[in-house]
Amino acid sequence: MPEKSLNPDEKLQLEFNRWATAGEGEKMERHHLDITEKTIRLMDLRPGERVLDLGCGAGWATRLLARLVADGPEGFGQVVGLDISDEMIRSARTASKDFENILYVWGSAQQIPWEENFFDKVLSVESFYYYPDQERALHELFRVMAPHGRMFLLINLYKDNPYSLQWVDQLKVPVQVRSEAEYVELLKKHAFENVEARRIPDDTPTPDDYQTKSFRNLEDLRAFKRIGALLLMASKPDLRTPAPGYTIY
Ligand SMILES: C[S@@+](CC[C@H](N)C(=O)[O-])C[C@H]1O[C@@H](n2cnc3c(N)ncnc32)[C@H](O)[C@@H]1O
Repeated sequence: MPEKSLNPDEKLQLEFNRWATAGEGEKMERHHLDITEKTIRLMDLRPGERVLDLGCGAGWATRLLARLVADGPEGFGQVVGLDISDEMIRSARTASKDFENILYVWGSAQQIPWEENFFDKVLSVESFYYYPDQERALHELFRVMAPHGRMFLLINLYKDNPYSLQWVDQLKVPVQVRSEAEYVELLKKHAFENVEARRIPDDTPTPDDYQTKSFRNLEDLRAFKRIGALLLMASKPDLRTPAPGYTIY
């Protein structure tokens, strides 16, 4: 099928399949590990919890989560890694053969193939700004999260980090560019509560001989890391009266 006639999710699948085939899935661990570890500390994960890793890529963060929730007095925790790229899912499965508590699923954030009220925590690393319909994805997240469940969306490309905007024209798929304030409003509009935003700087050093294709120069890269990623945190309320448009199952 010609690329032009693909729908937005199919275009994302095709592009991220290319990334996966080029080995980019595994390489992203190096770039995202520092900010992800800081976020995971904030997630306060407990053994027995059910976690969704949305846009899991090659699954390195999924495995970090799986170790933390695996086994404990609260039961056997499970992690679901979901991604639009079937090639990413294939690599993630291959690298996670030793884990009994991970399930990788191929699907879209805009139609999460899972039951309602299930996940205690959601992590999404560097994926949310690719979603063509972020409102639809938020609706889906709200649906699959358990009452009192909490989500953590880590976003590197956003208006308040001007250095990140250099990528917009380099990427081969369209992206959503919003500010922290716009994202906070969006989450509140979707009935999430305890909405918080934080900056998560990347404290890894950038060596002077580091080669970058994504930034004009190393000073821009360092400034980008200093400002850091935007972390959005929000909870699903324990709804007794559903918000307009939501059903309690
Ligand atoms: C920049 S990569 C980050 C991957 C991984 N979280 C990491 O940090 O290594 C973005 C990921 O989001 C996935 N993605 C993009 N759009 C998606 C969508 N609509 N639904 C689910 N996953 C999506 C891509 O396939 C890709 O694996």
